[in-house]
Amino acid sequence: MLWRSILLFPLLGIAATAASIDNCPGYTLRNVAESDSQITGDLILAGSACNTYGEDLTHLKLLVEYQTNSRLHVKIYDENEQVYQIPKSILDPPSGQQDSSSQQSDLVFEYTKNPFSFAIQRSSSGETIFNTSGTNLIFESQYVRLRTSLPSNPNIYGLGEDSDSFKRETTDYTRTLWNTGQAFLPTHSNLYGSHPIYIEMRDSQAHGVFLSNSNGMDIKINQTAEDGQYLEYNTLGGVLDFYFLSGPAPADVARQYAGVVGLPAQQSYWTYGFHQCKYGYQDVMWVAEVVYNYSQANIPLETMWTDIDYMDLRRTWTLDPERFPLHKMQELVAYLHNHEQHYIMMVDPPVSLNDSASYDAAVSSDVLIQNDNGTTFVATMWPGAVSYVDWFHPNAQSFWTGQIGSFFDDQSGVGVDGMWIDMNEPANFCGYPCSNPVQAAIDGNDPPAPPALRTTWDPLPGFPSDFQPPGTSSRRIKRDTSSANMTGLSGRNLDNPGYTIANGVGALTVGTIWPDLPEYGGYVQYDTHNLYASYMIDASRQGLLARRPAERPFIISRSTFAGDGTRGGHWTGDNASIWAHYLLSIIQNMEFASIFQIPMVGADVCGFNDNTTETLCARWAMLGAWYPFYRNHADISANYQEFYRWPLVTAAAQKAITARFQLLDYFYTAFYQQTVDGSPTTIIPLFFQYPNDPTTLDISYQFFYGPSILVSPVTVEGSESVSLYLPPQDIFYDFWTGERVTPDGTNTLNLDNVTYTDIPVHIRGGSILPLRANAGAANTTTQLRTHDFEILVAPDVDGKASGSLYLDDGKSVKPAQTTYLQFTYDNGHLSVSGSFDYDPGVGFKGVTVLSSSTLSSAGGSNSTNTDSYGRVGTVRQIDEGFSGSWTVDV
Ligand code: NOJ
Repeated sequence: MLWRSILLFPLLGIAATAASIDNCPGYTLRNVAESDSQITGDLILAGSACNTYGEDLTHLKLLVEYQTNSRLHVKIYDENEQVYQIPKSILDPPSGQQDSSSQQSDLVFEYTKNPFSFAIQRSSSGETIFNTSGTNLIFESQYVRLRTSLPSNPNIYGLGEDSDSFKRETTDYTRTLWNTGQAFLPTHSNLYGSHPIYIEMRDSQAHGVFLSNSNGMDIKINQTAEDGQYLEYNTLGGVLDFYFLSGPAPADVARQYAGVVGLPAQQSYWTYGFHQCKYGYQDVMWVAEVVYNYSQANIPLETMWTDIDYMDLRRTWTLDPERFPLHKMQELVAYLHNHEQHYIMMVDPPVSLNDSASYDAAVSSDVLIQNDNGTTFVATMWPGAVSYVDWFHPNAQSFWTGQIGSFFDDQSGVGVDGMWIDMNEPANFCGYPCSNPVQAAIDGNDPPAPPALRTTWDPLPGFPSDFQPPGTSSRRIKRDTSSANMTGLSGRNLDNPGYTIANGVGALTVGTIWPDLPEYGGYVQYDTHNLYASYMIDASRQGLLARRPAERPFIISRSTFAGDGTRGGHWTGDNASIWAHYLLSIIQNMEFASIFQIPMVGADVCGFNDNTTETLCARWAMLGAWYPFYRNHADISANYQEFYRWPLVTAAAQKAITARFQLLDYFYTAFYQQTVDGSPTTIIPLFFQYPNDPTTLDISYQFFYGPSILVSPVTVEGSESVSLYLPPQDIFYDFWTGERVTPDGTNTLNLDNVTYTDIPVHIRGGSILPLRANAGAANTTTQLRTHDFEILVAPDVDGKASGSLYLDDGKSVKPAQTTYLQFTYDNGHLSVSGSFDYDPGVGFKGVTVLSSSTLSSAGGSNSTNTDSYGRVGTVRQIDEGFSGSWTVDV
C-alpha cells in the first residue's frame, strides 16, 4: 500500500489547504532592539506550524532601516539566511544604510508584537499607507504571505507586465509575476516581465511599495465584506524585502524607486530614429529592398532589423549561407553605415546542439545549465534541440562576450549596432518531461512555411550588383530535426509547489525550462526564473561594451525584471494588429517609462500578430512616433506592413517622423534627465503631472511625451473625433498650428476631423521647446544633427516659460563634452544660459512666441506671423550660437 500513501499524502495536503492556511499562527516579535534609525527583532512562530505549502519557518528576523527621509526598508528573512534572496550581482538595493530616523522620516514604522504585524504611517498626516494587522504573516519554505489593508477602491498602478487596465482593478484581481511569453498578450495573465512595484495615489499624495523578491508570486487585490479592501502578496518563496517610498508626488516616488533599483541607461541619439523589422524577411536582398523602398518613399528609416530569418536553421550565432551569406551581410551593413543608418539582429538565448562551433565553445566553457545528475539540460527552441546558458557560471560572461565579439565583429563578422534579445523568459517549446526534444521540434507546427523565394528581382540602385535573390535554395527555413547529442531527462524531480500561482500558461514547467534546474552557485530556476533575462541583458551589455567600449550599448529585451532599465530597453512583445493593442501600448509605455524605470520602451507599431489594416497602421504610425522606441514589426504569418505600402500610412509616417525629428533634442534632453535622477520625464501619465487633479487618475490614453507635450490620440476605432482632457492648471497650444486652444467648462476639448494623418498634440503653456529646423528634410538622425535650432516659446497665463536642452556627441558612454542650456522667457524677453562645452556646430536661427491670447492671430499685430513649420506666433529671426549666454527680445 505504499503507492497509496504516496498518492494520497499530497492530495490530503491540498484538501487541507484552505482551512489550514487561514489558521496559521503568525509570529511573535521578541528581542526588539530599537535605535533612532533602525529596529531589529526576532520573529518566532507563534503556535503549531501549518506546513501547508512546505514547512513554516520557526525563526525569522526583522530589520527596519530608516534609510533616507523618504525611504523605509523593512525586511523579514530567515534567521539562518538560507532562504533565497535576489543575488546582488543583478540587483543590489540599498541595505545597511540608515541616514534618517523615526523622528525625521516621512514614514514611520509601527508594530504589534503578538501576533506580529506592522504598519507604515505618513508622519505628516498620520495616514496609514500599509497595514498588515488583518491577517497573520505566513512564512513557509514554499509560500510567503503578507496582506495589507487598503482604503476602498484604491488608486493602484504598476505591478506589471500585463495587458490589463492602467489603474488596477480592485475586486478579485490577481497579478501574477512569473515571466512567460504569450502571443496576443491575453488579459488577466502574466506576461514577459515582472515588476513588483506599485504606486498608490491617496488624497493627491503618492507613495510606492517595492517588494524586492524574484520568486513567482500572485499579488491579489480584493475587497470582501469580511476582509475589507486589501492587497496580498503570495510568493513561492524568497524573503519579504520591502522598500516603502514616501513620495508625496508620483514623480518623487519614481525618483525614490530609481534610488532603489538604479537609474536608467542613457541611449544613443540614433536609437530615437524610426526602426523597421519583420519576421519573415527571408533573405538579405529582401532586407536591402525594404531599406531601398523606404528611401524611395521618403520615409526616414534609421535602423533596419533582422529577425531569426538570418540564422542558419534558426541557430543563434550562425548565418544562413545562401540567404544571408556573410559577404552580403557585410555589404548590407556597409551600405547602411555609409548612409548613416543602423542595423540590428536578433539573438536568442539558447545554443543549438547542432551548431558545433557555439555548442563546443559553450561546453568547453562549461556554461550550459545542467541537470542534477551533471548532464547538460536539453530542451527545444526554434532550432530544435538546445541548451541554455547558465548566467551564474563564472565563465558565462566570457563565453557570451566571445560570441558577441566574433559574430558581430566589425571587420570579420556582421557589424551590428545593437542587440535584440528575445525568448529570454526563457522559452522552451518542449513539454515536461521533454523526453525527446528533437521530436518536439518535429512535432511543432511553428514556424509556418515561409513564402516562396522570389526568382525575379529589380536591381536596387546603390546596392552591389550581386544583390540578387538566390533563386532556388536547397535549404528550407524550418526547424533543425537532425539527431543531436541528447541527454536523458530521467531522474529529475519536477518542482511542483503546493501553492499554485495563477500562471497564465499552466504549471511552472509550461513554456519554460524546469524550475528544479540547478544553476551555478547553488541557485535553482525556481527562484531565479524571473531574472533569466536580466542576466542576459547584463551579459549582452558587457559583451557590446567589450566590442565597442566607448559606445552606449543598445539592447532591446522581451523579458525584464526590476532594475533592467539600468542596462537596456524593452519592447512589449507579441501584440496583435487590433485597436485594443494600439490603446494598450499607451498604458504599457507609461508603466515601463514612469513606474518601472525602463524608459526605452515601445510596442510593435501596426501590430505584430495577424494582418493590420491601412487605417490602423496609419493611426499607429502616428502614435508610435511618440514612443521612446519606435519600431514597426510583424509576424512571419502577417502581411507585410512597412509604412510605404499604403499612401495613407506613408503620409502619416512622414508627418509623424517630421514632428518626432523636430522634437528629438527636446526628448533626448527629457530622457537624459531621467538617467540623471530618475525623474519621470519621458512618457508621463497625466496624474504624474497633475497629482492634485483627481480626474487624471482615470486617464489611460493621454500622456505626456516629455514634460511639455501632451499627446491625445484618437481612442475609438473608425472615429475621427477625440474628446481630450486639458488639465485646468495649465493652458495649452496646438502643436501643429501654434494656436492656443480653449477647452469647454469640463476642461474637455472636442476635436473633429482628426484624419488618419492627424494626431492631437498640445504644448503645455509655460514651455520652451528647442526644435530642429527643417526636420522634414533629414533622412536620418545623423543628418538631423546638422540642422539649426529654432526656439518655440509657449507662454503660460503670466507670459512666462522655461525649458532646457542637453547636447552631447549622442553616443559616448562618457561624453567628453556636454552642453546643458536653460531657456527662460518672461513677457517678451528670452534668455539662454548654462554650460556650453559641447559645440553641436549649428546655431539658433529663430524664435517663435505663441500667443496666449485666445484670439490667436486675429489681433493683426505686425509681428504676428507663421514660423517655418506654419505655427502662428510672433516670429523673430536670430543668429546665435553655442559659445555663451545670450538674450533676445521677442
Ligand atoms: C518572438 C518575438 O516576440 C517576435 O518579435 C519575433 O518576431 C519572434 N519571436 C521570432 O523571432
